[in-house]
Amino acid sequence: MTSTLTIRRPDDWHVHLRDGAMLAGVVGHTARQFARAIVMPNLTPPVTNVAAGAAYRERILAAVPEGMSFTPLMTAYLTDNSDPAELVRGHAEGVFTAAKLYPAGATTNSDSGVTDIRKIDRVLEAMADAGMPLCIHGEVTHAHVDVFDREAVFIEQILEPLLKRIPHLRVIFEHITTAEAVQFVESAGDNVAATITPQHLHINRNAMLVGGIRPHMYCLPVAKRETHRLALRKAATSGNPKFFLGTDSAPHARGAKESACGCAGIYNSPYALESYLTVFEDEGALDRFEDFASRFGPAFYGLPENEETVTLERVECEVPASLDVGAAELVPFHAGETLRWRFVG
Ligand code: DOR
Ligand code: ZN
Repeated sequence: MTSTLTIRRPDDWHVHLRDGAMLAGVVGHTARQFARAIVMPNLTPPVTNVAAGAAYRERILAAVPEGMSFTPLMTAYLTDNSDPAELVRGHAEGVFTAAKLYPAGATTNSDSGVTDIRKIDRVLEAMADAGMPLCIHGEVTHAHVDVFDREAVFIEQILEPLLKRIPHLRVIFEHITTAEAVQFVESAGDNVAATITPQHLHINRNAMLVGGIRPHMYCLPVAKRETHRLALRKAATSGNPKFFLGTDSAPHARGAKESACGCAGIYNSPYALESYLTVFEDEGALDRFEDFASRFGPAFYGLPENEETVTLERVECEVPASLDVGAAELVPFHAGETLRWRFVG
């Protein structure tokens, strides 16, 4: 008999859906598995005000394929010039679920990001007072800091001091990649949580660099050494409600990845649940999967859990070498591999 797992429908607490033809090509992959998703605002130009957030939400809803129900939860992109009143209004009106801090230059489309966190102290205080959560890309950008150390240095130089200044700020430390981040989140107050991607549970930096340079394994923050991957697997499967699902699925056309200066981002949404579930099975934690995928995220964001369910069966699932999404050819995470679980619906 085939074994199956049925859980409350999950949400993706961190995804890049892009815009235009790419949005139309990828949104169905997210909507197929997830009821809601926190949508990143790093478009060109970025989503910095309420009108832009509301308009982007409409474009996403218009692109969701017939018959699928999906709720995009929007985020505002913080800049040095963000207006506290505008953000708080967006949150009060239900347009912005959260705001996103990109340190300027940290990653894709972060040029308009924040150059010095002290410049937005007033914004962050207003958010804390309004109970509006802050999603953080936690990497410093100084040229002298090694790319593999940028998350750990961010904790020490930016995050710890920030939470000392504004202790009631609700923070989601996005896509954590290090044992230091796990430790930091575990020891912080209940107002601090983290998302974990499938790739950082599956790969370490060797996957990107051994036997040739593998651009489809490159994302930011970059995968670290094995000890960090093991710490992340332990955290994700521990049952600690501070750690929950956020794919950071980030589509880039194949040509933009396979280039002399390849873009950062791993496209994992088509097989996201299969990918995560394999990890939970390997860690002997199938009974904790629903909490990580479907319960801890809503609890942190103060939203209701989804009422519907989804089912996965334990049968082989072949991941194609590439996907034609109309706008582009995309190479998905696990391309060419066979996974042990298959999403049924
Ligand atoms: O790898 C990444 N890709 N990390 C990010 O922070 C941004 C994302 C993107 O937008 O492509
Ligand atoms: Zn991201």
